[in-house]
Amino acid sequence: MDYVAKEERYDNMIYRRCGRSGLKLPVLSLGLWHNFGSTGVYDNMRAMCRTAFDNGITHFDLANNYGPEYGSAEKNFGRILKDDLGVYRDEIIVSSKAGYDMWKGPYGDWGSRKYLIASLDQSLQRLGLDYVDIFYHHRMDPETPLEETMGALADIVRSGKALYAGISNYDGEHMIRAAEILEELHCPFVINQNRYSIFDRTIENNGLKAAVAREGKEKGLICFSPLAQGLLTNRYLNGIPEDSRIKKDGRFLKETALTEERLAQIRGLNEIAESRGQSLAQMALAWLFKDNVVTSVIIGASRPEQILDNLGMMKNMSFTAEELAAIDALS
Ligand SMILES: NC(=O)c1ccc[n+]([C@@H]2O[C@H](COP(=O)([O-])OP(=O)(O)OC[C@H]3O[C@@H](n4cnc5c(N)ncnc54)[C@H](OP(=O)(O)O)[C@@H]3O)[C@@H](O)[C@H]2O)c1
Repeated sequence: MDYVAKEERYDNMIYRRCGRSGLKLPVLSLGLWHNFGSTGVYDNMRAMCRTAFDNGITHFDLANNYGPEYGSAEKNFGRILKDDLGVYRDEIIVSSKAGYDMWKGPYGDWGSRKYLIASLDQSLQRLGLDYVDIFYHHRMDPETPLEETMGALADIVRSGKALYAGISNYDGEHMIRAAEILEELHCPFVINQNRYSIFDRTIENNGLKAAVAREGKEKGLICFSPLAQGLLTNRYLNGIPEDSRIKKDGRFLKETALTEERLAQIRGLNEIAESRGQSLAQMALAWLFKDNVVTSVIIGASRPEQILDNLGMMKNMSFTAEELAAIDALS
């Protein structure tokens, strides 16, 4: 049967503006890094995307190399657009990226103009789209001049193949330089994508979080791995489940991450979450909004129920000073 999105899909979602731009994103976005590749189950991917969109999650985050194999998440999302979501294209924000290794040879990695422009053309083909809403440079390139990479982003936007530009995994100093170049080029650079969670405070220390909040020059900030790939949930409280990311796809999250110290932290955080009447996942997501800088957080999921659980975080997004101190003490 044809998919019809829930009429009340916008009723309970909160949308936040990316910096000073016109673009608003839902506080929760869905990332397709894991569980959407060729080893995933199509009906499950489809159900997750329907659940997300039915609940106001309008933003789907991809990259050229999400899989495995590389490119397969974009292909599967292209199929979901064709089967279900495509009729709602104007209600949806699709992002993709290039910057990590994608194809062999010197033109399939890092930040050259050659790589970014060719990669986006490939992504559009896999997605079956004429344009993506946000196109990111995926990581800083120490060798390519920033002017070249940012020039490519600006030309991509000018060509109509992306509506907005973003950068990912930049630190504060490089983000500020990139913003200056893009401003000169009149390119709508609206968003930074960085890892941020109770367990990973890098952007508090490398200047990025302060840079996006600069008065008069605010930019969007969207955080990835907000649940530390599942560690900041109830997933590993009682051992390592067979269907968990560690067991099923340990490319980036390995059993060695679960040290005794880490487990003690997770248990302690879980107790704080319980005292707030939330799941640990809900508290970890809400925590990212504690100081009004973050625009959206990109969750991953392996089943629709996790998305529904995570949406519950909107019921309690405020923290007392004592709770924040207790969370800091445990992490
Ligand atoms: N720009 C970049 O360089 C970059 C890098 C990494 C990721 N990203 C983006 O960020 C997205 C999210 O990253 P991530 O997948 O690492 O995010 P995450 O939200 O930290 O982790 C997702 C995992 O947590 C578990 N989970 C989620 N909700 C849960 C719940 N309510 N209860 C119990 N477990 C729950 C699931 O693990 P199980 O699979 O074990 O069920 C799920 O696969 C990616 O898809 C991608 O779009 C960007």
